[in-house]
Amino acid sequence: MKILLVGSGGREHALAWKMSQSTLCDHLYAAPGNPGVAQHAECVQIAAEDVDAVVAFAKDNQVDLVVIGPEDPLSMGMADAVREAGIHCFGPSAAGARIEGDKAYAKNLMRAAAVPTAEARIFNDFQAAKDYVLSREHGVAVKAAGLAKGKGVVVCPEPYQAVQPLEKMMNEKVFGAAGNTVVIEEILTGQEATVLAFCDGKNIYTMEPIQDHKPIGDGDTGPNTGGMGAYSPVPIVDAKTMSFVEREILVPIVDAMRRDFGRYEGILYAGLMFTSAGPKVIEFNCRFGDPECQPLMMRLKSDLVETMLAVAEHRLDTATLEWDPRPAVCVVMSSGGYPDKYVKGHEITGIEQADALADVKVFHAGTAMQDGKLVNTGGRVLGVTALGETIAAAQKRAYEAVEKIHWKDCYFRKDIAGKAIQ
Ligand code: AMP
Ligand code: GLY
Repeated sequence: MKILLVGSGGREHALAWKMSQSTLCDHLYAAPGNPGVAQHAECVQIAAEDVDAVVAFAKDNQVDLVVIGPEDPLSMGMADAVREAGIHCFGPSAAGARIEGDKAYAKNLMRAAAVPTAEARIFNDFQAAKDYVLSREHGVAVKAAGLAKGKGVVVCPEPYQAVQPLEKMMNEKVFGAAGNTVVIEEILTGQEATVLAFCDGKNIYTMEPIQDHKPIGDGDTGPNTGGMGAYSPVPIVDAKTMSFVEREILVPIVDAMRRDFGRYEGILYAGLMFTSAGPKVIEFNCRFGDPECQPLMMRLKSDLVETMLAVAEHRLDTATLEWDPRPAVCVVMSSGGYPDKYVKGHEITGIEQADALADVKVFHAGTAMQDGKLVNTGGRVLGVTALGETIAAAQKRAYEAVEKIHWKDCYFRKDIAGKAIQ
């Protein structure tokens, strides 16, 4: 089979690494990929958001399956266009991607399907939103309804603190049209974890639970990022909790989507808060998480392409997933200054030495080759991922690998997976 992978982040490097190991994969292309992806795929210079060029390339090169990594092309309808061209696609339609790209839609769908989530109100008018938060006794989470690269949520412990983010989103348009509508939620407290599932529109198949670390600083301090590290499995999510999540959250939402628009095909990502009243949905995403994908791919023993094909052919009930029982930990190394401004173009050293450690894999995200040297070009640069007999052992191994890698002003959190070890 010829496969085309769309995207260029750490998630896509992990997917490329895993897909290239499949006996079903004869040739892997990536659009546009990155230097890590290029170790496993032929990278073609097509932007991940260029729907027409991706479809044309897939047709011209007799691609059998297109796998779409990021949310932006999914929201733009790339999966619809690929399927219209008669090519199998792994990833939901534009209608399905609304579950991530339109938080107001997602909230209404959850309400209609009685899926447990935070109580919320939806506003299109700044003054009405402001009046509402100031009338409340308790804090709120303010969310831009549209796509904002993981930065569109502000948790405000005091109601008055919500006014400034509302101004920025609704009046100053810091996220553009994504902030025209806002969702204002009650604050949920508890431990967070994520459950991802393969979906073929009818059947779901959950993966092992995983936990991300969104804030930039140790101890979950500072602004939110795309994710600074992840580990799997998550001890707080036991088998009983997983079956609750499947039964009360994933199945009803997939059924609600089927009633609304038809099949949801690809990955459904449920970000959950484990509150004293049970698990509640914080957000749905329409794709693999980044960096959640990296530890999951390290632990997945089954053939990923086979499962993706089972989704595309609507026979997920015939698939089985086997996991390495060993935990995996991924530490993201970022450019100093991220998630604000950072300097690009510093030479990165030590990746080979890190990769040479047993059960370690260094996934590239924001890297590029410049004058024959590997340099940082993005905020999140590498996802250093390790397996170990215990979470503590995986963590130790991941940080041993991180210590071998260097570039000017590189940064990483020192406490990834710490919550699971305490
Ligand atoms: P999101 O981009 O929706 O994942 O939100 C980013 C982060 O904000 C989440 O990982 C949570 O830590 C936090 N958050 C979002 N919604 C709530 C909420 N209703 N209550 C408490 N924290 C929240
Ligand atoms: N790491 C969070 C996300 O991919 O949305």
